[in-house]
Amino acid sequence: MSEILRIRGGVPLNGDAYVSGSKNAAVALIPAALLGSSPSTIENLPDIDDVYCLMRILRWLGADVTFERGVMRIDPSGVTRNNPPYEMVSRMRASYYLVPTLAGRLGSAEVPMPGGCDIGNRPIDQTIKGLTSLGLRVNTEGGIIRAEKTPAFGGNEVFLAMPSVGATINTMLAAVSAPGKTYIHNAAKEPHIVDTANFLSSMGARIKGAGTDVIRITGGLPLHGSTYTVIPDQIETGTLMIAAAATRGDVTLHGTIPTHMESLTAKLLEMGVYVTDEDDVIRVRASGNLRPVTLRTQVYPGFPTDLQQPLTAMLTVAWGTSYITENIFENRFRYVDELRRMGADIKVFDRTAVVQGVEKLHASSITATDLRAGAAMIVAALMTEGTSDISGVQYIMRGYEHIDEKLRRLGADARYIG
Ligand code: EPZ
Repeated sequence: MSEILRIRGGVPLNGDAYVSGSKNAAVALIPAALLGSSPSTIENLPDIDDVYCLMRILRWLGADVTFERGVMRIDPSGVTRNNPPYEMVSRMRASYYLVPTLAGRLGSAEVPMPGGCDIGNRPIDQTIKGLTSLGLRVNTEGGIIRAEKTPAFGGNEVFLAMPSVGATINTMLAAVSAPGKTYIHNAAKEPHIVDTANFLSSMGARIKGAGTDVIRITGGLPLHGSTYTVIPDQIETGTLMIAAAATRGDVTLHGTIPTHMESLTAKLLEMGVYVTDEDDVIRVRASGNLRPVTLRTQVYPGFPTDLQQPLTAMLTVAWGTSYITENIFENRFRYVDELRRMGADIKVFDRTAVVQGVEKLHASSITATDLRAGAAMIVAALMTEGTSDISGVQYIMRGYEHIDEKLRRLGADARYIG
């Protein structure tokens, strides 16, 4: 297992890259396949650790799963266990999508509390609210989420206190099994919400309004397996766009959905970066000085919190002062200490980082403190002359498919070692 991503930076990225399937959609679709009465085939899955982790969990539960060249075939007919072990689920956030899918299939589920990146408190009260509103009895004593169908299991009105991605997906996954109509109000609208709804619809579910504030579901219909292709990864696309601009390169990204990228594109244009798109292709070019920006992370279609970290890395060398406010996760500035080690001038006041652009960063040994902090370290290392060793690569491998190879194809000197 590699321990370091070594990058010799200072070279503009140039050429073509192909975006992989969406991690955050993949981790919802794989558990969703448990709801089918027959096998599902999910295509364009990224070759990342989170996908392998879910594959192992599904096999342990009794599913027959194969995964080759981005295609996973899941036959859930042998699933008899409802209680995946802690060691398997604690590594990732999305393991709690097994709660509604196992309860839907088997009547009950016992899933240890989810793990995932340490970027804030990450409560699950809205998921519990969604599931209990639909007539599942839920308790979380002893660090295990236990959910069980009651005679009241059925559709209902669910009002989320905030548009939580996890709560929206969990409630949708429960609602497709719950007889009657469910309305999820104040639903999250991220691209992976829509993708999850589309996959469930392809399995026979009736879902309207995904991608808007209210999702309407007619539950209790029989669901069958389906063949489905995952959408491109919005955050990988954004990370590569930022890396292209940060190195003053010229990169053409294929297999993207440009509309998912509008909030980032707007910020890059404001910084003086050229961004053009046509069909599923985005081209990013930059040269000369970058202008500073003010940005606030927001739920989709606002600027995504997952791109706050790599964009901040790029802003460390912008020509002036940038103000970055993180509105989604309270603990998503831990990585700035690593950027400071490279010479960045960043001060954090509560939820706002004030980034005073410096002429250049210097290469250093740095640590990825979570997945998107890893993206920030990659961007910083790529735009810095000299060799930077990034540790904590297990986070990067959780979410970025063969990022070393992709960067090498763009002319960077990047490789996993150790
Ligand atoms: C998803 O996390 C993503 N993870 C995250 O991606 C992403 O950063 C986040 O959405 C925001 O877009 C997956 O899709 C697997 P939330 P999730 O529930 O579902 C509060 C990455 O790097 N909240 O939308 O955990 C919560 O504290 C990862 O790829 C509650 O208060 O995010 C946070 O402030 C990291 N109660 C906000 O809502 C709840 O019950 C958004 O959380 C749920 C959430």
